Amino acid sequence: MKNDVIALENIYVEYDGQLALCDVNLEIYEGEILGICGPNGSGKTTLLKTMTGLIKPSQGRIRLFGKPFSKEMLNWIGYMPQLRKHDTGFPATVRDVVMMGRYAKLGLFKRPTSTDNQIVDEVLEETHLIEIQKKPIGKLSGGQFQRVMLAHALAKQPKVLLLDEPTSALDFRMTTSFMELLEELNRKYRMTIVAVHHDLQLLKDHATRIVCLDKAVEWIGSPNDANLDEILLRVFFYRTPH
Ligand SMILES: Nc1ncnc2c1ncn2[C@@H]1O[C@H](COP(=O)(O)OP(=O)(O)O)[C@@H](O)[C@H]1O
Ligand SMILES: [Mg+2]
Repeated sequence: MKNDVIALENIYVEYDGQLALCDVNLEIYEGEILGICGPNGSGKTTLLKTMTGLIKPSQGRIRLFGKPFSKEMLNWIGYMPQLRKHDTGFPATVRDVVMMGRYAKLGLFKRPTSTDNQIVDEVLEETHLIEIQKKPIGKLSGGQFQRVMLAHALAKQPKVLLLDEPTSALDFRMTTSFMELLEELNRKYRMTIVAVHHDLQLLKDHATRIVCLDKAVEWIGSPNDANLDEILLRVFFYRTPH
């Protein structure tokens, strides 16, 4: 039996009366690396935001760790949003940003305890940021900044990690090492990983299951499925206009 950590049932999301997600059904299993792809505007970011409670569906049910959706359970879900350019202007050091990842658990005005500091040390070590922890985030390279955003999400010690195009600003070498880091987290902690990727080859190389989204789940299956290329072609190039 596979345990599902997140289950979406008949989910609909709309913005100003326009449907962004339409009858999405999806179960995410403990310990898997689920890759999500789909054309621009197909609802990928909306789907992740719905799983993190940032967007409320107009219809449907969400279960987290086998229980009805609750804020408490969201504590076990880490989220790395899609990169926006202005994010790097925030005046804080690498360590500050990672510590902010603890605030969900700390409460905004509590002081970090020695446990918080220890967890942040471990996360900085794991993401290879310990040497640059005092650097202002405005001075980082693209690869370093993405690792800081990952470390921010990891500081919560999540059981599930949701990532929205985490490697979109990275070159080939940095992308490979970022993906290896995710695989290590998956292996070491059995962390469930759900990642939206633009690069289809990355999905084939690193995901254990692939979802093609176009407002609804168009297809879900193994990266080794013999029909995958044909399916991707259909979803990306022959999509019916909405
Ligand atoms: N905050 C918002 N307000 C209104 N429309 C939105 C908002 N966010 C997304 N949309 C629309 O919803 C659709 C899905 O967007 P999104 O989830 O960002 O897709 P993707 O991440 O696949 O590119 C798009 O048509 C987009 O324009
Ligand atoms: Mg998006």
